Amino acid sequence: MIPEEKVREVAERLSIVEVVSEYVQLRRSGGNFLGLCPFHGEKTPSFNVNPAREIFHCFGCGAGGNAFSFVMKMEGVSFPEAVKLLARKAGVEIEERQLTQAEKKDQDERQQFQNINELAAGYYRSILKNGQDGAPARQYLLQRTVGDEISEAYRLGFASDRRDGLVRHLANNSVDLDAALKLGIIRKGDSGWYDLFRNRLIFPIRDSKGLVIAFAGRVLDASLPKYINSPESPVYHKSSVLFGLDMALPTIRAKNSIIIVEGYFDHLALFRAGIRNVVATCGTALTATHAGQIKRHAEQVHMLFDSDNAGKKASIRSMELFLEQHMPAYVISLPPGDDPDSFLSKNPVEAFYERQNKARPAFDFFVKSLLAETPPENVDSKVRIIDEIVPRFRKISDPVERDLYEKEICRLLGITTHAFRKRMGGMGLTVKESRADSNKKTERWDNSQETLLALVINYPEAREEALKTGVDILFTGDYLELAILVTDTMAQTDDSQALSHLTDRIENPEQRKILSRIMVSDAFLADIDWRNVFEQCSRSSEKKALGSIKDIAARLAVLDENSEEYSLLLKQADTLRKRKSEL
Ligand code: UTP
Ligand code: MN
Repeated sequence: MIPEEKVREVAERLSIVEVVSEYVQLRRSGGNFLGLCPFHGEKTPSFNVNPAREIFHCFGCGAGGNAFSFVMKMEGVSFPEAVKLLARKAGVEIEERQLTQAEKKDQDERQQFQNINELAAGYYRSILKNGQDGAPARQYLLQRTVGDEISEAYRLGFASDRRDGLVRHLANNSVDLDAALKLGIIRKGDSGWYDLFRNRLIFPIRDSKGLVIAFAGRVLDASLPKYINSPESPVYHKSSVLFGLDMALPTIRAKNSIIIVEGYFDHLALFRAGIRNVVATCGTALTATHAGQIKRHAEQVHMLFDSDNAGKKASIRSMELFLEQHMPAYVISLPPGDDPDSFLSKNPVEAFYERQNKARPAFDFFVKSLLAETPPENVDSKVRIIDEIVPRFRKISDPVERDLYEKEICRLLGITTHAFRKRMGGMGLTVKESRADSNKKTERWDNSQETLLALVINYPEAREEALKTGVDILFTGDYLELAILVTDTMAQTDDSQALSHLTDRIENPEQRKILSRIMVSDAFLADIDWRNVFEQCSRSSEKKALGSIKDIAARLAVLDENSEEYSLLLKQADTLRKRKSEL
């Protein structure tokens, strides 16, 4: 744990311009510095650094934050690692805070788990490399043309058919077997301890730093189950681990793009072919956590799943997650019957790159596969198609994309955009959807709310005024959450860098983006009559809010009266009505 004061000290000693300049050529432009964004390809600079506020923001890709977030994104490291990195640069010495007893216990246990996983990986590896029992696995790898170099890169291993080979190995190394039990790699039965993996080729699963955290074992023949995986454990959460990330990170950074596959052997086949910005999920469907991680490391993602029906379904499910992350996602398709492994064993790698170049935007892929499955032959099938499309279409955030897809969908179905929009508005929403939707109603860039928030940040008087009027009346959605955060923070401290630190704590990427955008571009507010601007903007905000009374009424009509959402909306409608009568 790094003490908070140390983080401050590092931040105070380094200027963000100094930090960013190590990676980006910056030139002064007004109060800001300007350069080519290192996080997305661009020819004209839209990457802004504001030295006064210690913040950066790119108007091209929306990346933004303070010096720490810059280094995190640039180097692909965690927050504490970024702090340490910059501390070294700033000449600040960091002795980590004394751990509490609970933290110490936790750390020791982690160390022990790591030791056990390391011992197990070494054990399996040595059997595969030169153990007598390893012969069938060596034969198997030969047949799948996995050479020594690849085998070493993955640290492949083999679990022999012995009942307690690993148990003994661990015991001989004075491991507490009960700890290994928590990792699930050995078990205890009536007749003693025994191994989880037997007669299986072993893929160690590593975290992003390369530490072994779990294992997957594949049979050498056609028996079932094909794979078994370590169970969830204190160090292994399969919904957040991306297999192969440690090997892929350097290439992911260079290309700013990730390919995602479903199988260990698919990962291996691509790696062998020299395609290295690849990760795989570990025997589960992609989760929102995975998608968030992928977004943290790269600008765009290619999905490369089997060409069968299951692969198609996986692509569509994953597409929804990437839409929610506002992350461009593409689908690489393979010939029927192929998976990445079989495709690359039959074709030169150029053929793969050709397919990657022809990858289709995931939403386009989804619409086309839907139409192939359900041809829009009659009214009934068209209605069914639209019902499939609408909830996903809602998740597209880019207005240009929305517009293009809307036209395309209407053309394909032979319906008018008017009809499509009507359907979009009128579908019975689930509670969850309607909430997400009401958030989205605050357009992603609302000028009056943006300016209001900028005023609140720049003028203490404006902040007071906003608090007097009520932030929940002036702001909605992301802007409301931000306004609450900003006013709270500013009430608590007069540290001028507090807002720059705030960007670290905001989880929602959209809100982070809005805040850094405002903070690099609010110079125009320096010499204005704040009250005048404030009044104009608040009037416009309130008008918009009043317009939504009708929307709220419509939603109330379909909600369960006992639900939390119902009472929340009712309160909101009440406040709005009161305001209206006061105007
Ligand atoms: P595949 O059957 O496509 O496996 O399952 P694969 O990795 O491509 O292996 P080969 O080429 O057939 O030898 C894809 C992924 O689904 C999970 C594994 O993560 C696997 O890599 N899976 C599959 C399991 O967890 N258990 C199973 O029984 C099968
Ligand atoms: Mn496969």
